[in-house]
Amino acid sequence: MSIHTPKIEKKVTLTTIAKMKGVEAITMVTAYDALFAQLFDGEVEMILVGDSLNMSFLGKEDTLSATMDQMIYHTQAVCNGAKSALIVLDMPFGSYTSPELAVKNATRCYQETNAQAVKIEGGKERAHIVEVLTQNSIAVLGHIGLMPQFLRSDGGYKIRGKDAEDIASLVEDAIALEKAGVFAIVVEGVKKEAAKAITDAVSIPTIGIGAGNVTDGQVLVWSDMFGFFEAFKPKFVKQYMDGAKQIRQGLENYRNDVKSREFPSEETTY
Ligand code: KIV
Repeated sequence: MSIHTPKIEKKVTLTTIAKMKGVEAITMVTAYDALFAQLFDGEVEMILVGDSLNMSFLGKEDTLSATMDQMIYHTQAVCNGAKSALIVLDMPFGSYTSPELAVKNATRCYQETNAQAVKIEGGKERAHIVEVLTQNSIAVLGHIGLMPQFLRSDGGYKIRGKDAEDIASLVEDAIALEKAGVFAIVVEGVKKEAAKAITDAVSIPTIGIGAGNVTDGQVLVWSDMFGFFEAFKPKFVKQYMDGAKQIRQGLENYRNDVKSREFPSEETTY
């Protein structure tokens, strides 16, 4: 059963998020511009400027060609729109392949945008990158499980945590990231049992996407949850609006009005 919850009025900080584990479910959505960030602000604790924008807004087949410049540009726009949500910039593919490059690019995030944290994909093999970022005062959101930036090297999107060995490996990833200093971990595309084991193994919040209802919070891509992205609908997405249908209906109404000369009417004319 859905409950009525109050708007989030106060500025959300890393401390707010840390304190929510085991107390209250954390909400996060993606946003890529000021207009929608302003609409989402106050409704969710965190906004992710995800590299998913490469697919949903640039029309590419995967996230791999997103660039640091694009992520900075869109994060600046989101920061202009959202005032209370904690904003996270998703570090694009290739922008954190060495500790030096990661620090250089994440530093740009803090110097050129008002985002409070960056997100990087990877488990134990990337813990040394997280460590160097956190040692350089850059807050990091981890991302384990199904990692879209590994799409080509993994040969497709693969659901994780299907057996005890993989669950143990995911738990190791989460523990390594926590030790390296992440403030929370996105857990994507894993079996519910795996998400539960990960969530129980760490003292920081886990934010699920396609991980069942056992994580400390949830994140969804806004164009999926509002039905604007029609190329495909992943099983884990709940659609809260029929966005594409409503836009088409609105445009049909506009076309009919213009062609019939009902618009502009006297009311909308100087
Ligand atoms: O890029 C993105 O939107 C993401 C979410 C799917 C977590 O990484």
